[in-house]
Amino acid sequence: MQKENKISLKNYNSFGVDVISSNFNIANSEKEIISFIKKNPFSKPIILGGGTNILFKNNIDRNILKIQVKGIELINETEDYVIVSVGAGEVWNDLVNWAINNNYGGLENLSLIPGNVGSAPIQNIGAYGVELKDNFENCRTISIENGSLKIFKHSECKFSYRSSIFKEELKNKYIISYVTFKLSKKNHTINSSYEPLKQAIINNKISNPTIKNISELVCEIRSSKLPDPKLIGNCGSFFKNPIINKIDFKKLCEREKDVPFYKISEKKIKIPAAWLIEKCGYKGIRDGDTGTHDKHALIIVNYGKASGNEIFEFSQKIKNTVLRKFNILLEEEVNIIND
Ligand code: EPU
Repeated sequence: MQKENKISLKNYNSFGVDVISSNFNIANSEKEIISFIKKNPFSKPIILGGGTNILFKNNIDRNILKIQVKGIELINETEDYVIVSVGAGEVWNDLVNWAINNNYGGLENLSLIPGNVGSAPIQNIGAYGVELKDNFENCRTISIENGSLKIFKHSECKFSYRSSIFKEELKNKYIISYVTFKLSKKNHTINSSYEPLKQAIINNKISNPTIKNISELVCEIRSSKLPDPKLIGNCGSFFKNPIINKIDFKKLCEREKDVPFYKISEKKIKIPAAWLIEKCGYKGIRDGDTGTHDKHALIIVNYGKASGNEIFEFSQKIKNTVLRKFNILLEEEVNIIND
């Protein structure tokens, strides 16, 4: 267990916000997580993974527990698939690369998503037509209340669009220590239906894409429009794409031409938040040291010295403008820490 009493979190959050933590702890194993919980009952720690989906508004006095449990282990194998158990502190994209290099299929569309493996189930990460839930088997967790171990099966996680039970009724109740995935060994399912990916396959004249091809194309698409957090602070999409009902969608289409949308069900339609924000004139807008990315309106960036509060205030201006113009309430995808 490592402990720091005064440390800047600048290198621990991809927004690059420079706030001070006065109780910073790193757990390198499941055992260390359990012993931390038992020693610090009722401390309501902030659990930190890769720090790529979190906005600290102020300095943090509360305990922070960074999860650094490592390891990728094959625990079962048949002719068709492997079952892999992965430490929550592994970097997500390292896992994807490991899978591609071993020709294990399932994670390729999720290439280059920032963050750690343990955070992935919490918000059911997704990109280019695939979500974490499509390859997830179960996860091992530790109760924040009493340090006991519990395994959550797929059906118990209540996965939905960018959410799970760990973001809803069990928010801040469990720490994920290991995630188990089921990956294909042959006859991989190739998911190429997401429009920009389909287009990239055609442009590159690939007739039978492999999982490696898909991974490379996803990396190309992402790098062309999403800013690299190592170069410019950001947490990817700041808001979720709102889901509206068909009647409101019809009204929107009467007002605006060519509204992009994804049909969710007979009654529900998902609208890209980026489009709504762009329509409000907020694409590539700079406000002090924060702003929206010039290639993608849904990405709020830190040009260098923005404080967490400044980034938050800017995000609320966007949210209020979208609400006034479209009567649609955007919901933050990034985890806002209000301490
Ligand atoms: N669009 C605009 N203006 C922009 C950018 C996009 O109008 O500046 C419109 C376009 O019509 C475009 C549509 O929005 O077709 C969708 O854009 P994009 O394909 O970039 O996807 P997204 O809906 O904005 C979601 C995820 C991303 C994920 C991509 C690809 C959410 C909140 N975001 O973005 O995830 O990479 O799809 O699958 O669901 C993340 O969660 O941090 C993230 C980056």
